Amino acid sequence: MENKINIAIDGPAGAGKSTVAKLVAEKLEFIYIDTGAMYRALTLKAIENKVDLKNEKELTNLLTNTTIELTTTARVFLDEEDVSEQIRSLEVTNSVSFVASHSSVRFEMLDRQRSMAQNGGTVMDGRDIGTAVLPNAQVKVFLSASVDERARRRYEENVAKGFSTNFEQLKQEIALRDKRDSERETAPLKKAKDAIEIDTTHLSIDEVVSSILLIVAERT
Ligand code: CDP
Ligand code: CDP
Repeated sequence: MENKINIAIDGPAGAGKSTVAKLVAEKLEFIYIDTGAMYRALTLKAIENKVDLKNEKELTNLLTNTTIELTTTARVFLDEEDVSEQIRSLEVTNSVSFVASHSSVRFEMLDRQRSMAQNGGTVMDGRDIGTAVLPNAQVKVFLSASVDERARRRYEENVAKGFSTNFEQLKQEIALRDKRDSERETAPLKKAKDAIEIDTTHLSIDEVVSSILLIVAERT
């Protein structure tokens, strides 16, 4: 049987990557892999173990002794414990880009992510999938949206969850995380040369999903 393709979806926070990637995976009967959840899980463990987030060696050792499992139902298990909710906390969100800036942490993550995709049939989302993790992915998409729109989306999510949120603060946090992710030395957030950029600012989720499915159909 012919191997299924891999689809790489990258972009900044709130561009719609995980929502859209999940739906594309569902339509194609592919596996969705949320690489951000892996960095978040390590960050959660580091915070719990009071590891200095700037200490690359300690973080890398910690990762070596950590199992992170992503289930087909998009749950996240850290050392066999379901941490799907904890990894979305504000503390983890605002700390994760420090952890993700270390090259030896990224090296280990990249190894794990590549083996998850080795048989094809995945939709993987993150920051460096098209540029570093799966440079040969047959379909690469870079999702973007204005920072205002991305902050608005996160704001709506928080309101729906009953969290009190300050829009301007949320916007600043998103912009800061994007800056850290884009300016780090190893595998920064960047559109791969051969990725197709979709500006989702004025697009619905369904419109983005349809555009990606069209690209997939053209390539396969
Ligand atoms: O969903 P959201 O856009 O808020 O973030 P995420 O995809 O869960 O990723 C959280 C953080 O992990 C990012 O801000 C990056 O610092 C890091 N990350 C990364 O460096 N490389 C990836 N492939 C995925 C995430
Ligand atoms: O994974 P990423 O941080 O890129 O974004 P997300 O968590 O998938 O999407 C953030 C929010 O924006 C979700 O609540 C989506 O429902 C919403 N969204 C939207 O309103 N319109 C889009 N075209 C894409 C996402």
